[in-house]
Amino acid sequence: MSEPVGVALLGCGTVGSGVARLLLGHGDRLEQRSGRRLELRRVAVRDLAKPRAVAVPPALLSTDISAAINDPSVHIVVELIGGTDLARRVVLDALAAGKHVVTANKALLAAHGPEVFEAARNAERTVCFEAAVAGGVPIIRALGESLAANQVTAIQAILNGTSNYILTAMADGGKSYTDALAEAQRLGYAEADPTLDVDGSDAAHKLAVLAQIAFGVTAKPHEIERQGIDRIDVTDIRFATELGYTIKLLAEAWVSPVRNAEAATPRSAVALHVAPVMVRKTDMLAQVRGAYNAIQIVGDVVGETLYQGPGAGMMPTASSVVADLIDLAVGRAQKTFAAAKLWSNRDRGFTVEPSEKVRSRFYLRLAVRDMPGVLADVCRVLADEGISISSVIQHEAVEGHPEQSVPLVIMTHYAETGRFRSAVRTIDRLPTVAAPAVSYPVDD
Ligand code: NAP
Ligand code: HSE
Repeated sequence: MSEPVGVALLGCGTVGSGVARLLLGHGDRLEQRSGRRLELRRVAVRDLAKPRAVAVPPALLSTDISAAINDPSVHIVVELIGGTDLARRVVLDALAAGKHVVTANKALLAAHGPEVFEAARNAERTVCFEAAVAGGVPIIRALGESLAANQVTAIQAILNGTSNYILTAMADGGKSYTDALAEAQRLGYAEADPTLDVDGSDAAHKLAVLAQIAFGVTAKPHEIERQGIDRIDVTDIRFATELGYTIKLLAEAWVSPVRNAEAATPRSAVALHVAPVMVRKTDMLAQVRGAYNAIQIVGDVVGETLYQGPGAGMMPTASSVVADLIDLAVGRAQKTFAAAKLWSNRDRGFTVEPSEKVRSRFYLRLAVRDMPGVLADVCRVLADEGISISSVIQHEAVEGHPEQSVPLVIMTHYAETGRFRSAVRTIDRLPTVAAPAVSYPVDD
């Protein structure tokens, strides 16, 4: 039998505990799959006294990250600390010490991908990151390996389990935003700083990783526009239901300038953004509930594909981390890593273009004064931007609306995002409009 593989776990919180459980509790199964025993040799944490979801042998546990990295019996360092500063340092140190690295840290990859991957190539070591996008869904392998014959033309994905959990709980369970977020935190879905989940940043980090694999682009933070679910009003969830839609936080990459349409001519620009989108209730993405993630990828050879599964939480994420450990023990990961040349200077010709150019339908909710001429004013502004209206709803009153105003909901036909936004800015200045407009793209 081959030599065992020594593993150091940096971080033993939600994900780290799951990984330790698998390594300590399923050693025989993992050995059978790897051909080598995966041995947990070090576990570094911040607070030794903290209760853990796994019984780590006390001799393995320490607060000394450096000792874990530099232990000569350790071959693979698993970074499950999170954040970007300490994580960057320990990953670079591990590579410099000649260790392969497994990480679930999408914030690290989005912020420091070029530096980390360059360091790995220089050290002739491998970085694996299956768990960094969509938790237990093997989307990194699917996109990077199984779809390798394709040029991807579109990605539409639910990539943040916490946001999807909150939206599902609000729409189906009538829960408040605050209660649903607290529940997602208790279940271990949320980031240490949950702002990253609900403001769209976590989904943007994951989209940056997918866009690197699919298009070879290194998206800078400002190139991925993001809007989260933190300002979603229950009024819009109710209107979405009335109109036959569900609101989902989607991370999207469009090569075609028209949502859901093929580009007339081959294009080498891609628009990347994260936003709440109204999705038809019958659409597959609308059926994805709770902390589940789903990724719809269109390839020019394969057509449309869909991947779905648990996107966050202890054991689903540990499943992906340990799959990376097995791939490293077998030696597959090293070959894939060398061939993929991710975050290198290899230019595949794609550029990131602003989302302003994407054509979409839109939902627009206004709080307007109930007086003659209001609808005409709004329609005139939309018409001036060449935007055509598909339907209008006006109810008499909705709880919580500013006094003497009524909600006016407009669904548009396809329009360029930039022109729609320009119309909204003008509408917001109309004296008959009582509060800033709320708008979301509509996926049809
Ligand atoms: P977590 O529960 O907050 O665990 C973080 C761990 O890092 C804890 O064990 C903590 O030690 C340790 N740590 C923090 N600062 C440290 C320091 N200065 N020195 C030593 N150890 C330190 O986080 P998590 O949810 O497991 O997430 C870990 C990573 O996985 C993050 O990058 C996250 O984005 C990613 N991820 C999470 C999920 C999920 O569902 N949770 C899914 C996919 C990816 P103590 O326990 O002693 O405090
Ligand atoms: N906080 C993340 C989420 C964890 O809710 O999706 C998985 O990356």
